[in-house]
Amino acid sequence: MKILIATEKPFSKEAVEGIREILEKRDHELILLEKYSDKKELLNAVKTVDAVIIRSDQIDKEVIDAAKELKIVVRAGAGYDNVDLEVATANNVCVMNTPGQNSNAVAELVFGMLISLARNGFDGSAGTELKGKKLGLHAFGYIGKIVAHIAQGFGMEVYAYSPSLSRNPERGKEHGVIAVQNPEELYEKSDIVSLHMPANADTKGSINYDLMSRLPEHGIVINTARKEVINEADMVKIMSERPKFKYATDIKPSNHDEMVEKFGKRYLAAAKKCGAQTAEANMNAGLAAAEQIANFFENGDEEFRVNK
Ligand code: 3PG
Repeated sequence: MKILIATEKPFSKEAVEGIREILEKRDHELILLEKYSDKKELLNAVKTVDAVIIRSDQIDKEVIDAAKELKIVVRAGAGYDNVDLEVATANNVCVMNTPGQNSNAVAELVFGMLISLARNGFDGSAGTELKGKKLGLHAFGYIGKIVAHIAQGFGMEVYAYSPSLSRNPERGKEHGVIAVQNPEELYEKSDIVSLHMPANADTKGSINYDLMSRLPEHGIVINTARKEVINEADMVKIMSERPKFKYATDIKPSNHDEMVEKFGKRYLAAAKKCGAQTAEANMNAGLAAAEQIANFFENGDEEFRVNK
């Protein structure tokens, strides 16, 4: 089969070589489209391929329509909001992700961003420590759990909210976190909230003024999830009202320039989404994607299918 890696933000070279090795050993052909800047390049590259490995690359109707031989798309990573699942299902295309494979990288970035904010961008002025602070995890999947364990190493008190955790709060104890019943309670209890939910109809714009105003005056929000979950106007409002409130994000908001101008060092955004951009995460997610594709073609294995 012909397998395309289509990555606008490429994997490390080692990860690509690892993927190649797995696929070629199992008699597949690897085609590479990296750092493309025009959608036309993607539309052209998918024409004859049977499978595609992507990251945050957009797989919409136009791409699926152009990919007449396509049988499977594997999003090497967690969030698959970049793939039109309905169109994929209608065209009999299996969509998978590689859950958990890049979680550690994202979890470590949470603390990188948090310490940078807490120490005022390392400008030499007196900052604050993490020890003794209350950290709220908004969603508690693979990443949230790793963040909880790292936070405990810093001596933080960890709270968590997710719909499933609120139904089974005992599960929190296994990870040393206090499960709360709803998002409002999470923000009321926390000094810092770290976001770990997917972007979907329920979560888009859900981090709004009402929730954030429940944090203390010196509240911090860390977003390594998706830009769409934030109500950007409400973020400007709360940061304007509260001179100590801080926000860091791995995904530049639409109003990035306004945020820089208004809030200076209280606002931090990665130049390019980099939560999962480590050699290890590329390798883990990339190799998992290759294995999943090979298993799909060999045994019809659909374990990680997300468009059921
Ligand atoms: C994910 O959903 O896995 C992360 O957001 C990483 O996205 P990326 O592969 O575009 O870096």
